[in-house]
Amino acid sequence: MQVTHPLPPEIDPANLPRHIAVIMDGNGRWAKKNSLKVALGHRAGTENLREIIRNCSDIGVEALTLYAFSTENWNRSKTEVEALMQLILDFFHSEIDELDAKNVRIRILGDKAGLPDPQRQVLEEAEERTGSNTGLSLNIAVNYGGRAELVRAAQQLAREAAAGERTVESIDEAAIADHLYTKGLPEVDLLIRTSGEMRLSNFLLYQCSYAEFVFPEELWPDFHVPQLHRCILEFQRRSRRYGGREE
Ligand code: FPP
Repeated sequence: MQVTHPLPPEIDPANLPRHIAVIMDGNGRWAKKNSLKVALGHRAGTENLREIIRNCSDIGVEALTLYAFSTENWNRSKTEVEALMQLILDFFHSEIDELDAKNVRIRILGDKAGLPDPQRQVLEEAEERTGSNTGLSLNIAVNYGGRAELVRAAQQLAREAAAGERTVESIDEAAIADHLYTKGLPEVDLLIRTSGEMRLSNFLLYQCSYAEFVFPEELWPDFHVPQLHRCILEFQRRSRRYGGREE
């Protein structure tokens, strides 16, 4: 299959971020700027999503994690929540065949049990259908909160210890990582939040410990593959020291 947007020559293909996480911020402001209802901003924000996913898969990124709906997003108006829920359904209905054909493995991060039945079902089906695919890991955070994820991990570990399945001393950093939704995935290397906002907003708190943060100014619907490549270039310009010193 043809690579839609090849990497520009200034990007080193051997030093790509293995795991990119994206906070797709600015749909509301984009809608306002274009005198549209907020739901249409979110819809525009699913259009570019397709090319971003496709390109990550084509250039060989291992994992892409998208923040689609946080546990706090339930506080938005009923109309906006319904619009987002509908977009999630539409997205999976229209994309699942192509994603599966591209060997993409879909994983949902978050509390699926708290979702309406149609959404829960479609997300579970997508995970099941693509579960043995070996290409890009596409993780969609839905009804997700980073603190809730850590609480869930702590409770599972405590349960295992109480049942005598593990010792308290065996609870180390790797054990915690193994009890997160992202089990088995590389840590986040590059965190992108669009729209110029500079917050983590309860996203992947543990997994972003050593991530490089890039905050492009574009509102999410205006973020396309060239902007993604600019963020990757910025990532490659940073020197990652993990608390040590440069040589
Ligand atoms: C933030 O923009 C964006 C969201 C809360 C939702 C992101 C969801 C999508 C792009 C579509 C659904 C996703 C999938 C995977 C199908 P905002 O509304 O907070 O923007 P604002 O800060 O400008 O108001």
